[in-house]
Amino acid sequence: YTVEYHDSIGSTNDRARELAADGDRDVVVVADEQTGGRGRLERSWDSPPGGIWASTVLDPSLPAAHVPLVTLAAGVAVVDACRAVGVDATLKWPNDVLVDDDSEGGDVDEGDDPADDRGGRKLSGILTEMEGEADRVSWLLVGIGLNVNIAGDALPAGATSLQEQVGAVDRRAVLQTILESLSTLVADPDTVIEQWRAYSSTLGRTVRVDTGREQIEGEAVDVQFPGALVVDTDSGEQIVHAGDCEHLR
Ligand code: BTN
Repeated sequence: YTVEYHDSIGSTNDRARELAADGDRDVVVVADEQTGGRGRLERSWDSPPGGIWASTVLDPSLPAAHVPLVTLAAGVAVVDACRAVGVDATLKWPNDVLVDDDSEGGDVDEGDDPADDRGGRKLSGILTEMEGEADRVSWLLVGIGLNVNIAGDALPAGATSLQEQVGAVDRRAVLQTILESLSTLVADPDTVIEQWRAYSSTLGRTVRVDTGREQIEGEAVDVQFPGALVVDTDSGEQIVHAGDCEHLR
């Protein structure tokens, strides 16, 4: 892959989207800082200097139904890279990378911000974007935001960074681990699901998932290909394909 580096950019996803629409593949857009970083559900994403803000344009020759798997794969790749530098990160469905707060002896403030989820501070988030039809994806990109060398006071509420956990780390090496893991994982759906389960902090928890149409509450019991969460509710097991998940207990 080729890397396009920017000291500062609006959003690496927006730049990657332009490249993807032009037909570029296997390119990674990386920036030291984003001035208009975007998160899921129209949220903004704080992207001060020192983080990894990267968007990778992948080979889109897979069915759109498999796209959620790519998001899970990116989460697994990020956790691999965090664990490689000694940070015990976990995954919250579908794509948040958290660090348990237990060691800090207190709950994170509660509020409406899902980043403040009980028992975890957010280390990384993933925003996958695509264009195409179910049988034909024309382009696909994965945006990865990872708080790396960012001091605690420069982080948003409910967030943490690798620096805060273990001290400053080599950003280039971390990004390389992520990209290598991701390219191996996208070709191996079984391993993605297996590793996702192993890294998960969602499974076994009581969750509430807001799908935009309804709220589904119950115990998260499994994750299934291509990335659905199985929730055991009062009215039986429900398979949730997309939504915003909150860990209740
Ligand atoms: C989320 O958890 O809501 C997803 C956050 C995704 C942030 C990354 S940073 C690199 C890429 N460029 C963006 O504007 N967003 C993604």
